[in-house]
This record gives sequence, structure tokens and C-alpha cells, in this order.
Amino acid sequence: MFLDLAKKRRSIRKFTDKEVTDKEIKEIFESVLRAPTAVHRDVMKYILIKDKKSLEILSKFKKSGAEFLKGSSLAIAVISDKSLAKNTYHQDACIGATFIQLACVDLGLSSTWANVTDAKNEEGKASQEYLHELLNLDEKFNVECIIGIGHGAEEKSEKKAWDYDTHVKEIVIK
Ligand SMILES: Cc1cc2nc3c(=O)[nH]c(=O)nc-3n(C[C@H](O)[C@H](O)[C@H](O)COP(=O)(O)O)c2cc1C
Repeated sequence: MFLDLAKKRRSIRKFTDKEVTDKEIKEIFESVLRAPTAVHRDVMKYILIKDKKSLEILSKFKKSGAEFLKGSSLAIAVISDKSLAKNTYHQDACIGATFIQLACVDLGLSSTWANVTDAKNEEGKASQEYLHELLNLDEKFNVECIIGIGHGAEEKSEKKAWDYDTHVKEIVIK
């Protein structure tokens, strides 16, 4: 049930050493490659990083907030093509990233989103630019985020909902 996934999904930043198998990765992408994009444009790309040394390098793509990638078993760089979706490449990518996180919960895996937009690395270089070099990406691509995934090694309570009455309102437009 979708509500169970929404309750169970929490940002987990500590992981065990247990690997995320190729079968699990394929299962994640069974859902993710069905995520909608504006006008059904084929704009999404996903780069997988499993190698331990590579994950350590990746964890320094920004000054802070991506350290957890080092301990993850798998990182997925969520990338969209700006040239094909000038006005919707952020939205398209965020939907893909959200599908990844929910698919992970469904498989008993944990994850956290590391934001790229406007971030800088330790040397003050834009993380977007740094990741383009690191991942060997063409200029037309935007790296929306890097999702770190693994088997969780920390417990978090189920997600509490924001208050309905202060966040949801029905109106009639005349
Ligand atoms: C757009 C977005 C960007 C985020 N960026 C980061 C990040 O750079 N580093 C990080 O550790 N967590 C990041 N997070 C995770 C949030 O901190 C987390 O979702 C929030 O605190 C709520 O906690 P929960 O995911 O457990 O519900 C991001 C989440 C979203 C949705």
C-alpha cells in the first residue's frame, strides 16, 4: 500500500556493508523507468556508482551534506537533459529521484538524497561543474541529485505527516 511506503521512507545516512545486488538494482529501475516526464520526453539518465573508492570520491562533491555517500553501497546520479526539456528538467529529475527512494523502501533498502543545485565543493568549485568532470558528462546534462542507497544501519520512527488543516485547503474559483 502506498501509504505504508510514505510512512516508512526516511532519510537514512548510515548503512551496513551488505551490497545492493544487481537484481535489486534492476527491480528499482523497473519502477523508475516508468516515472512520468513532461510530454513523455526521453530526458532522464541514471549513473550507478558501486565501487568503494569511487563512492568515497563522490562523497566530497560538496562541502557538506554528502558524506553519507561514502558508506552507501550504491549511489545513483540522477541526470536530466536540459537541451530536451528546458523548462521541466528539474521536475522530471525530481520525479525520477522520488521513484528511486520509494522503490528502495519497497525493497527494504534505505536511501538519502544529496542535493547538487547551488552546492560547492571544499575548494569552492560549483558541485555541478565538478560532477560533470567526475562523471564525464556533456554540458547539456544537469545533475539533479545523488541518491545514496544501502541496507540501513540506523532506525528512524515512521514519518509524521504535516497537519492537514494548515496545509490543505479547498477553494471554489468563480
Ligand atoms: C530536495 C532535497 C534535497 C536534499 N538534500 C540533502 C542533502 O544534500 N544532504 C542530506 O543529507 N539530506 C538531504 N535531503 C534529505 C532531507 O534532509 C530529508 O528528506 C528531510 O530532513 C526530512 O527527513 P526524512 O527524509 O527522513 O523525512 C534532501 C531532501 C530533499 C527532498
